[in-house]
Amino acid sequence: MDQEEIFMKKIAMVGAGSMAEALISGMVNNQFIHNENIWVTNRCDSQKLQQLESKYSITTTYRLEELFQGSDVVILAVKPKDAGAALAKIRPYLTNQTLLISVLAGVSIQTLERLAGKNLAVVRAMPNTSATIGKSATALAFNQALSQDQKGLVEKLFATIGLTRFVEESHLDAVTGLSGSGPAYFYYLVEAMEKSAAEIGLDANLAKELIVQTLLGTAEMLKNSEKPSQQLRHEVTSPGGTTEAGIRVLEHHQVQEAFIDCIKEATQQSKRLGMKLSEELIHSRMNATGD
Ligand SMILES: NC(=O)c1ccc[n+]([C@@H]2O[C@H](COP(=O)([O-])OP(=O)(O)OC[C@H]3O[C@@H](n4cnc5c(N)ncnc54)[C@H](OP(=O)(O)O)[C@@H]3O)[C@@H](O)[C@H]2O)c1
Repeated sequence: MDQEEIFMKKIAMVGAGSMAEALISGMVNNQFIHNENIWVTNRCDSQKLQQLESKYSITTTYRLEELFQGSDVVILAVKPKDAGAALAKIRPYLTNQTLLISVLAGVSIQTLERLAGKNLAVVRAMPNTSATIGKSATALAFNQALSQDQKGLVEKLFATIGLTRFVEESHLDAVTGLSGSGPAYFYYLVEAMEKSAAEIGLDANLAKELIVQTLLGTAEMLKNSEKPSQQLRHEVTSPGGTTEAGIRVLEHHQVQEAFIDCIKEATQQSKRLGMKLSEELIHSRMNATGD
């Protein structure tokens, strides 16, 4: 499927919160599909729908027949706890041709298939909060029903909010622990650098500028250089110099080990939450239908 064909498609979005808006903004800014062909609904916040409509020239509605008419791509962007109610509502409009894309953290493809009650193509995306500025690192997992055309479409769609990589679904918890929660780890590090800047007598605004530029420069180096991160660090660490003195303190406090434990724990938490959530969603579905 080429970009011209994609441009004419219709996408139905269920959920109009921050992740939905990041995707809308990405699609609109990159002319991914015709603005008016992005159809959005939410639970009840009509003001939010009006805002999105006037900001991005997209279409919003509460009439589900209208939302799903001629739309074979559906993006589910509600909170995971609301997935059961949202899917129960849209289930009658899903067909075997529908491509269901979920950005819900922790809800497995199998659970989505069961809640949808159809044999349809399902993609699970794990973006991060930098999607709002088009700089997400997004991992995508999919089921066997996904066609090559659909895979290409999904890859292009998520490229509008940043980097995309396909992974096995079994790796999504690790992705969540690493890059899903990743922005918060860097914010935490920056917080520490800001606190230290205050203690060593630097103006807060100046310190923030210096820290952010240092972070950007480091990210660019890592992106553009073929050298591993450890080598880049060694190259800027002269024996007996300032960096070495600072790193010695980090090593004394076992900061690397702490980061490794942090990411492992976030991964485990993603597994635990995902299992609990999937069980709850299936259980409430069974209660509702008497299955
Ligand atoms: N934000 C992130 O950085 C991020 C990163 C990775 C993954 N995610 C995933 O993205 C999903 C959405 O997160 P978010 O931050 O965008 O949430 P959010 O801002 O709270 O938005 C949730 C949206 O879902 C709508 N909704 C709830 N129940 C609904 C229903 N039954 N039918 C239709 N719409 C319904 C809400 O409508 P009302 O406002 O009318 O209630 C709201 O528009 C989550 O599952 C999260 O795991 C988010």
